[in-house]
Amino acid sequence: MNTTHDRYPVPQGFAGPQTVTQEQYEDLYQASITDADAFWAKAAERVDWYRAPTQIQDTCLTNADEFHIRWYADGELNVSVNCLDRHLEKRGDKAALIWESDDPAIPSQRVTYRELHAKVCKMGNALRRLGIARGDRVTIYMPMIVETIVAMLACARIGAVHNVVFGGFAPASIADRVRNCGASAIITADEGRRAGRKIALKANVDAALEMPGMEGVRSVLVVPNTGTPVNMVAERDYWLDRLMERESAECEPERMNAEDPLFILYTSGSTGKPKGMLHTTGGYLVYAAYTHAAIFDIRDSDVFWCTADVGWITGHSYIAYGPLANGATSLIFEGVPSYPDASRFWQVIDKHDVTIFYTAPTAIRALMREGPEPVLRTSRKSLRLLGTVGEPINPEAWRWYHGVVGAGRCPIVDTWWQTETGGILISPLPGATECKPGAASVPFFGIRPALVDVASGTLIEGPGEGNLFIRGSWPGQARSIYGDDRRYYESCFKDYPGMYFTGDSCRRDADGHYWITGRVDDVLNVSGHRIGTAELESALVSHPKVAEAAAVGFAHDIKGQGIYVYVTLKAGHAESDSLRQELVAHMRREIGPIATPDHLQWAPSLPKTRSGKIMRRILRKIAENTVDDLGDITTLADPSVVQALVRERRMA
Ligand code: WTA
Repeated sequence: MNTTHDRYPVPQGFAGPQTVTQEQYEDLYQASITDADAFWAKAAERVDWYRAPTQIQDTCLTNADEFHIRWYADGELNVSVNCLDRHLEKRGDKAALIWESDDPAIPSQRVTYRELHAKVCKMGNALRRLGIARGDRVTIYMPMIVETIVAMLACARIGAVHNVVFGGFAPASIADRVRNCGASAIITADEGRRAGRKIALKANVDAALEMPGMEGVRSVLVVPNTGTPVNMVAERDYWLDRLMERESAECEPERMNAEDPLFILYTSGSTGKPKGMLHTTGGYLVYAAYTHAAIFDIRDSDVFWCTADVGWITGHSYIAYGPLANGATSLIFEGVPSYPDASRFWQVIDKHDVTIFYTAPTAIRALMREGPEPVLRTSRKSLRLLGTVGEPINPEAWRWYHGVVGAGRCPIVDTWWQTETGGILISPLPGATECKPGAASVPFFGIRPALVDVASGTLIEGPGEGNLFIRGSWPGQARSIYGDDRRYYESCFKDYPGMYFTGDSCRRDADGHYWITGRVDDVLNVSGHRIGTAELESALVSHPKVAEAAAVGFAHDIKGQGIYVYVTLKAGHAESDSLRQELVAHMRREIGPIATPDHLQWAPSLPKTRSGKIMRRILRKIAENTVDDLGDITTLADPSVVQALVRERRMA
C-alpha cells in the first residue's frame, strides 16, 4: 500500500465567516457524532421554517418492513422561499445567477435575487393556472439556461415535484422517466446549444410523447431559447414566456412538510432500469446548504461556478439549491470546456471574476492534454478555491489543476458523494484539511464511513481497503427509490443492517483519510456520468439483429472509464462495419450520446458459467487487454469461447 504521498498543507488566509479551522473540525466532528440530534438541530437553523422542527432524526435502516428515513419530520418550510424571498431584503440586487452562453458572442446575463424571485413567481402562477398542483410531478428537459433554475424553483414554490432529465438523453430515456414518475407536465425549450451545435429538445419531447404510456402528460411548456420554429400541439403545448407575461410577480408559496418530496432524479443502478432517487424538502435543503457553505467556505463576495449539468445531482445541490439557499452568486454555463477552444473555462473565470471553481476530473484531464498555454494566457487571479467531483482524480491531474490552473495558490476540495447522498459526504475542508492529491480525505460532519473487507465480509479497523458503507443517516440522504422502497432497502441496506452501501470501493490510510478507488458494482463511470451495464445491454438487445450483449468498462485516459460491448448476433445476420455503426447509432438513439461505446466486439458467444451467468470478470480482462492473466476459467461451460474472443481482440 502506498503511504507516501505529497502533502499540501492547509493554506493561510482561509478565515471567512463560514471557515472551519483545523481545530474546529475535530471538535465539531466529534460533537456531530456523539450528539447527532443536537448537531443537526443546530444545523437546521440555517434554514427559515414556517414551523421549526422539534423532531430531528427518525430512521429505521435495519429491517425491510419498517425501513424509513425521516428528518425534521414536524418542520414546515418552502424551499423557494429559502432560496429567494429571505434574501430580498439584504441581497435583492445581488446576482443570484450569472449565465454564460455556449456562444461567447451571445451576451451573458446577470439575474438578481429580486429578478429571479419575480420570474419564479410568474412561472409558479403559470403552472398553477394549468392545473399543476402540490404533489404533481413535472419533468424538466432543458439546456443550461436561467429558465431551468426558474423551473425547478417554481415547482418547489407550488409544491410540485420536479424531475430533471439530462438534456443529452434520447426520447426513449425521457419516456421511461416520465412514465416512471407519472409526470403530468414537461418543461422544455425549443433547442439547446452545445459546442456550436443545436440540440433539438422539443423534437425529442415530441418523439417521447409518441411512445406508448405517455398519455398522462397533459401540458408541455416550451421556453423559446434559440427561436427556431418547433411543432406546437394545440391545447397541449404552450410558449412559457407568453404564459408568464400574463402572471403576477407574487406567488403564494406552499407550506410544505419537511418530508414532502422535492424532486426525483434518476440514476443508474447495477440492475435494470434507472432508479428514481427521491429527495425531500427539509433535510435535503439543510444538507445542501450546509455542505456548500462549509466545504466551499462561502463568503458574500464569492462567484461560485459549478460546471456540472443541472440534469445531475451535482447541478441540483451545487448550482441551484446550495448556493441559492446561501444567498451566493451561482454561475450557470451552457457550453463545454473545449468550445470555441480549450481556453474557454479560464476565459469565463476571468470574465466573471469567478472565485470558486468546481469541475470534474475528466474535464481536467482533457484540458491538461492541451498543455498549459490555453490556461496561462488567462489571469485567473480571482480564483481562491478549486473543487472536483464525479470520479477519482489521478494525482497527476490533481497536481496540474493545483499548479497550473490554481497557480499553486488555491486548495482543492476533492468531494466524494452520490445522487443517493444528496450532498457531499467526504471532502477536505479548505481551512482545515491537509490535502493529498487523489484523496477525498475526511468525512463531513455527522458522516461515519465504514469499510468492509470483501473476502471476509468483516469491518476493517484502521488502514485498509474494502467496500465503502456509511453508518446511520444524514439529512440529505435519499428517502427512497420512487415507488419502490423495497428495491432501495434491498439494493443498499440489506446486507449490513444499519449501514448504507455506496457501491464504491475505498482505501483508508494511516491518517484516517479516505481514497475512493471506483465502483464495485455493475455501474460504469464514464466521464463522471453513471451508466449501468444493464441499461447498455438492454438497449443493445432491443435491436432486432442482436441475440445477446454484454457491456463492461475499461480504463480510459480521459474519460476515466470507457464502454466496451460484446455483441452476439442472431442467426442469419453477418458481422459488418455497417452493422457495427448501426448498433452504435441505435444505442445513442435508445439512451443518448453518453451511451456511445468506445469498442464494439463481435462475440460468436459469451463466456458463461454452467448456470448461465455471464462471466464479466473475463470480459473486463479482454477489454483491458490483460489476457495473460485470465484467472480461473474452469467454471466456464465452454472455455473455448474465451480463446475465440481473445483472438478477435488481438486482431482488432
Ligand atoms: C463517483 C455524483 C471518486 C463514485 C456526485 C460515486 C467519485 C459516483 C467522487 C456517484 C470523488 C463521485 N472521487 N469518485 N470525489 N465523486 N464519485 O450519483 O463512484 O452521479 O459512487 O453523483 O461517482 O455518481 P453520481
